[in-house]
Amino acid sequence: MSVSEAARPVPNGPAPTPRGGPGGKTLRKDRWWLQPLVTVVVLVLFIAYSTWSAFNKVNYFHDPYLSPFFSPCLAASCPEQVRWASLNLMPWISPAIYILVFPLGFRMTCYYYRKAYYRSFWQSPPGCAVAEPHKKYTGETRLPLILQNLHRYFLYFAVIVNLILAYDAVLAFRFPAENGHHGGFGFGVGTAVITINAILLAMYTASCHSCRHLIGGRLNHFSKHPVRYKLWGIVSKLNPHHPKFAWISLFGVALTDVYVRLVASGTITDYHWIF
Ligand code: FES
Repeated sequence: MSVSEAARPVPNGPAPTPRGGPGGKTLRKDRWWLQPLVTVVVLVLFIAYSTWSAFNKVNYFHDPYLSPFFSPCLAASCPEQVRWASLNLMPWISPAIYILVFPLGFRMTCYYYRKAYYRSFWQSPPGCAVAEPHKKYTGETRLPLILQNLHRYFLYFAVIVNLILAYDAVLAFRFPAENGHHGGFGFGVGTAVITINAILLAMYTASCHSCRHLIGGRLNHFSKHPVRYKLWGIVSKLNPHHPKFAWISLFGVALTDVYVRLVASGTITDYHWIF
């Protein structure tokens, strides 16, 4: 029986079971509130930082490093080395705003993050065997939560963004000429930062439940699809680690943006070697 069925009154039947612990009470003595609290703090900090960064349209690029919040760079104001298009719909807006909906939509509708923020922000439910403030549960069957079903479509965009970030990582090995030194193939701390970030985001996407279904779902015979079976085996190994990739890649993308901004603003030096 699903949670929603358990909470739904049955005509002429017994009263619905109160949600939470026995008798609708919280009997747990452990620190069950710690995990939701940490989730709230981390997500609020990330949202605050990423919003500030998305609107802050300076210091997001230092050749050859581009902040992942701004990639792909689609505005006319983007540096020409990383410009994919020259959109000029609202010249005053930051280039990050054009693309924000895709990573944001992908993360917000992620099955794992849904569990995390339903528990922590809405306390629905706060935890196993914990009294719940809400009287009823309607699930994701109506607006706005029915829009969570868009996750599989956001996945397609996430794959495209991942490919572009992988391309950015390749570009991060190509340094411009500077201070009388020749440019060309090289390696810097920023190269490592941008590459690791692209790998972490790729792991997050590859371990996604919708990705696993896309690769191995709706097949009657794996034996007739050996390539998909092989790929399904790989993503199935990653899938149980999805929560870990969700958090690590979240920190990774923010720290990469911080690094690029610190280098671009001249606050720190990027150590790199050109061969
Ligand atoms: S990204 Fe988390 S389930 Fe798809």
